[in-house]
Amino acid sequence: MTFDSNHFVRPDIREMEAYKPIVPFEVLSKQLGRPAEQIAKLNANENPYGPSPTALKMLQDGAFFHIYPDPEARDLRAALGDYLGMPSGRILCGMGADELIDLVLRVVLSPDDCVLDMPPTFGMYPFSTVVNAGRYLSIMRDENFEIDIDAIEQAVADNPRIKVIFACSPNNPSGNLLSDEVVNRLLALPVLVVLDEAYIEFAAVSGAESRIKWALAHDNLIVLRTFSKLAGLAGLRIGYGAFPEWIVPHVMKIKQPYNVHVAANLAALGSLQDAGWLHKKVDLLVAERNRMVGLLEEFAFLWPYPSHANFVLFKVVGIDAYDLQQQLQAHGVLVRYYRKPGIDNCIRISAGRPHDTNQLITALQKIQL
Ligand SMILES: Cc1ncc(COP(=O)(O)O)c(C=O)c1O
Repeated sequence: MTFDSNHFVRPDIREMEAYKPIVPFEVLSKQLGRPAEQIAKLNANENPYGPSPTALKMLQDGAFFHIYPDPEARDLRAALGDYLGMPSGRILCGMGADELIDLVLRVVLSPDDCVLDMPPTFGMYPFSTVVNAGRYLSIMRDENFEIDIDAIEQAVADNPRIKVIFACSPNNPSGNLLSDEVVNRLLALPVLVVLDEAYIEFAAVSGAESRIKWALAHDNLIVLRTFSKLAGLAGLRIGYGAFPEWIVPHVMKIKQPYNVHVAANLAALGSLQDAGWLHKKVDLLVAERNRMVGLLEEFAFLWPYPSHANFVLFKVVGIDAYDLQQQLQAHGVLVRYYRKPGIDNCIRISAGRPHDTNQLITALQKIQL
């Protein structure tokens, strides 16, 4: 008997392109021969200030790491309810907002149901769609990264199999916001709208408001948020969202019971107690983002797009973006480059601490065009 492994792999998974994982920080640090402290890590929109003091203290004092966590994350959802001014029953937590994207699609998609997306945007939307046997449809944003709402309305009218639309505000990687008018037009469609507000706290500094409470008023709206960016907990994987009432029991039913682990629970609870500390760091990062954009004006090969998040997208002119990324990396500065429709030859730089920006500037001064 010959063993045909293909027989055991779902045909769509067999065809699927592998997600290109980033080189782990420790590995890169060894490859570059630089200790982590000498690397300006500005490639993944993490929060360089890390966890808040109370989050760290609660991790240090944690006494129940040997016990499985509460499957319903009751304490954390209650604390989030207080923080947001919402009923905790409408809040769900996950192993990062990433897991919540996947869980929503697991509940909603039957094979060949469609997800509509507006690239360039966050890569997990197509990834989780394909993994969940959905069909990925996209309508490109325009040159200012505004979405084409007329085309979206037409696409939904033409295709009853479109079940979910992902809308990211501020959008990653462009940094722009969706207007109320556009969100209202999306909500008027017979689809589930997943509004991803992973970076909303940074936009709030310039007056943008979260729409998380809109989920209480709209049966077709889910709003996702995360502790990764606001609270410096990217490595602990903890995100949350506000959900319409009807979907909550279904997500609870299909999620892994212990998805939010004890350490993530504790760190998130501690972070919420330090909201003032966190928002001061947000202010620092927004100020540093603005300082970085000002300083980068000196470099004619970088054209910034306006951003409401903790990162800035730059069009790279007169040099290959990958080459630029590689040269910066050799100087210990990590940025993200893109070679994709809509963001071809662009780089995205996360806001860092003042010394990260200084290292970036020094490295840029050494770039060979
Ligand atoms: C737009 C957007 N949504 C969600 C996430 C994922 O957040 P988490 O770390 O909570 O999974 C990211 C992370 O980069 C993001 O950029």
